[in-house]
Amino acid sequence: MISRSAKRFPTPHTLFTVLAIVYGCVESVPKRGHEPWSVILCKFRDSNFEPRTTGWFKEWIGGRQNSDSIENYFYTISNGIYSIEGSNVTDWLKIPFSRNNILQQSLADPKLQLTNEKPFALYDKAKEVCINFAKENDFGMHRQKITVINQEQTAIYGKSNGVLLTPNLIFSSVLAHEMVHSMNIGHSYSDRNIQVFPYAERGEYDDKYDLMSTANAHMRPSTYGLAGPGLNGAHLDYLGWLPMNRVVYFGRDGRQNYTLRLSSLSVPHKNTNGWLLILIPYDRDDSQNVFTVEFRTPDAHDKGIGQPGVIIHQVRKIGAHYYSFLITHAQQEFNELTMDTEWVKFLHMSASGESQYVHLRVERINRKSRFADVKVISTFSPHTCLQGEFYKKIAPDDPLNKKKLAHVCLIGNRPVFPKHLEMQQRRARFFEKRRSYGQNECIDGYEWRALDAYDYVCVPHKRAKEIQVKLERKNVEKTAAKAEAVCSERLVKRSAFPNDNHCVPEIERAQIEQENRESLQFLRNPNFFNGVDTLNL
Ligand SMILES: *[C@@H]1O[C@H](CO)[C@@H](O)[C@H](O)[C@H]1NC(C)=O
Ligand SMILES: *[C@@H]1O[C@H](CO)[C@@H](O)[C@H](O)[C@H]1NC(C)=O
Repeated sequence: MISRSAKRFPTPHTLFTVLAIVYGCVESVPKRGHEPWSVILCKFRDSNFEPRTTGWFKEWIGGRQNSDSIENYFYTISNGIYSIEGSNVTDWLKIPFSRNNILQQSLADPKLQLTNEKPFALYDKAKEVCINFAKENDFGMHRQKITVINQEQTAIYGKSNGVLLTPNLIFSSVLAHEMVHSMNIGHSYSDRNIQVFPYAERGEYDDKYDLMSTANAHMRPSTYGLAGPGLNGAHLDYLGWLPMNRVVYFGRDGRQNYTLRLSSLSVPHKNTNGWLLILIPYDRDDSQNVFTVEFRTPDAHDKGIGQPGVIIHQVRKIGAHYYSFLITHAQQEFNELTMDTEWVKFLHMSASGESQYVHLRVERINRKSRFADVKVISTFSPHTCLQGEFYKKIAPDDPLNKKKLAHVCLIGNRPVFPKHLEMQQRRARFFEKRRSYGQNECIDGYEWRALDAYDYVCVPHKRAKEIQVKLERKNVEKTAAKAEAVCSERLVKRSAFPNDNHCVPEIERAQIEQENRESLQFLRNPNFFNGVDTLNL
């Protein structure tokens, strides 16, 4: 039943792009803030079937304290950064159309008959009609919508009218999966050369440690059907749901051979204090191409994963988009590394015949304290010339050589152009330039604002520095993080993100607002992740 239903989770698709108009931090990449959803329960004229009661849906969607609710799921996996609190559910509404009427309407709608949309036409029309019907009947609705119909077998997300669920697919993994599509994320992959579902691409849906491979991932039973797992580290990084001070960009501090303590991603961040994600670069010309290393334990929404394990993904740019691939081990038999197991990835040979590789070994797993000690060695060296290239010396007084490079890497004995120098310059400063990193890396000259560890808003270096100085001074004065209920005269709430109650002058808040609004344009690669699509903003 699961695999049959899972066939019907198509790739998210575009009808129109909804423009960002709502105030708040949620309409952004990364995703922070409070975003309630509305559930529309919708019956066709020719069927009275109600797969679940309105009360059941209300209980399922809302309530942070209910550990099986959708609200709890998002609150937990985002570590409180994203909340759907206040989501609501309509009564069962009976539209004055049968399934066949809707089908006819969809066939008559030219925009739904375009090649890309055609397979979803019926569902798109059903969503449109149900949502309009709810509006006509005075049900107010939030911008984000989930329509549940009482026939068919599919689960879909589409930009124009959100999520659609059908009777057999009313369970937590599916709904959460479709909701995450609204956050500009497609399906996750493994490196296996297999096709999980007939219409899927190679390796698609084969990341057992990621919700975006539902229903082929490690789900767990819950009150509301199968649930979980959480999201892989690459997705959490993309969404800005990991604290920046606990993500390490390996090699940035000059060390490339040491043991790191990784804490489980499956428990709240405040319960642990190790690293949460290691990013290991492997591409001298693209710092966002990395291996990610994370530790997951059978806790909370990850209960279905069986045993603690260290999980490696490769993040790789293909075309204009980055993808995450779960790396499998031992002839692709295993999805995780356990105690005393290791992984070696050969990268390439250098021009002088040394191999560049990444080597990882799990030295210790502590189940009780939920950490894993992982020894990482990387001989990745971004400025070294590779096999097939040679070192072309350049004179320090060459007028082109403004940065005083000793060499550039060339294929064949060609003249040195400024572009070669620029490229070598970028490679030579590869680590030095990583003031921000991961999928939310800022463009050159910008770095994260970092008002707190989840504040992935790109601002100029100078501004970030000022903020750091201020934060440090406050720490010294021991008044840091002392938010006030009411701001004194001439001060206002800073509101850089939800629940940010710091009191600041009006001018500072105006600047913060502008930074929040403009942040996207200073991200290095604000793109749809794990799929070819545009951002849903
Ligand atoms: C959902 O909440 C919104 C905002 O509070 C409200 O306008 C709307 O009427 C509610 N809808 C339902 C179905 O309760
Ligand atoms: C890594 O460090 C160990 C000792 O801590 C050393 O034996 C080994 O040769 C080093 N490996 C590399 C590639 O530097």
